[in-house]
Amino acid sequence: RKCVLAYSGGLDTSIIVPWLRNNYGCEVICFCANLGQADELQGLEEKALASGASKCYVEDLRAEFLTDFVFPTMQAGAIYEREYLLGTSMARPLIAKRLVEIAELEGADAVAHGATGKGNDQVRFELTVMALNPHLRIIAPWREWDIRGRKDALDYAAEYNVPVKATAERIYSQDRNLWHLSNEGGPLEDPWNEPPADMFEWTTAPEDAPDEPEYVEIYFRRGIPERINGVARGPVGLLEELNALGAKHGIGRVDIVENRLVGMKSRGVYETPGGTILYKAHAALEQLCLDRDTLHYKQQVGLRYAELVYNGQWFSPLREALDAFVQSTEKNLTGTVRLKLYKGNVILAGRKSPYSLYREDYVTFDEDDVYNQADAEGFIRLFGLPLKVAAMLKVEGKGV
Ligand code: ARG
Ligand code: SIN
Repeated sequence: RKCVLAYSGGLDTSIIVPWLRNNYGCEVICFCANLGQADELQGLEEKALASGASKCYVEDLRAEFLTDFVFPTMQAGAIYEREYLLGTSMARPLIAKRLVEIAELEGADAVAHGATGKGNDQVRFELTVMALNPHLRIIAPWREWDIRGRKDALDYAAEYNVPVKATAERIYSQDRNLWHLSNEGGPLEDPWNEPPADMFEWTTAPEDAPDEPEYVEIYFRRGIPERINGVARGPVGLLEELNALGAKHGIGRVDIVENRLVGMKSRGVYETPGGTILYKAHAALEQLCLDRDTLHYKQQVGLRYAELVYNGQWFSPLREALDAFVQSTEKNLTGTVRLKLYKGNVILAGRKSPYSLYREDYVTFDEDDVYNQADAEGFIRLFGLPLKVAAMLKVEGKGV
């Protein structure tokens, strides 16, 4: 019997290795996805093997993460509960997808993950596994074992010779990738507490950001960002550059009390420097290139899309159908957006597109010869007719 474990190298997933061997008597194969978490990925394989794994896969999935998960979500304009750009939510289905593929490759009969029984991540991992391979058994040690807290975990590690780096106790539960960094727990558990300044590991505080604004131009082709300041970039290089710019100018901090799928509210503070710039830039192109009906409908779709991603339903018929709609709206989103970055703000400084529907000759306050103002009179008469009829009833003393 074999089990493939979604492994990070941290204390929790490290002790899962001997725990699986002890409790399920199975061979354990570790898999770690490089999504740009900036943790030490070097030495991960040795660490997994020393913990008792028979093998360890470490794979760079950064480009796939951006191309297949992040960009479609950004294009949909999906934002969970008005604030959250879904950085953790999008990563889980990709990790789980690869976990399933490796399990199939290795002839494993089970997969395991280190998400707790109180969170969203367990749902995201497991729904993906269920959607992609209905035969795989899923093991979630956090829902089974009696390890409670760091002390228990360290004791267990010592008992089974799991190498542990001598790090100070982690105050926050964090998750990092190329798109975002999340912080939960510790002092954040009281929503009245302002996030401590030293918690932010990525972005500069807006008040400490440069006093000089910085301009950046992003070129999109069919809704995909392809150039920064005229220089062509692959997805990974592009995000790295926007992250550096955003972090320098204090952009993309979010503080939210959100509704978890499993019922409780939780407080999170997230940093999404480059992503925040991209969302703003993409929306600016939509202003030019989408007709009113499509834009308004897309806003509704974005709301639902965000729920599906947050709730772990990436591989669902509805998410895929909504994606087809979104992709159809992206056809004309080609053009350039110019932004000014300044002390936590992303300020629009210009946008242009060969497919722009904006017509200066129609909208101008100066004289024009394309729009007949007299047409508006009949339009308003019919458009307002239902209101007028209702008011007449009221005048007759019948309506309410
Ligand atoms: N609350 C966010 C979400 O549900 C972030 C979760 C962070 N996960 C973690 N394992 N630290 O997407
Ligand atoms: C966890 O519980 O594993 C992290 C938080 C979450 O999944 O929402």
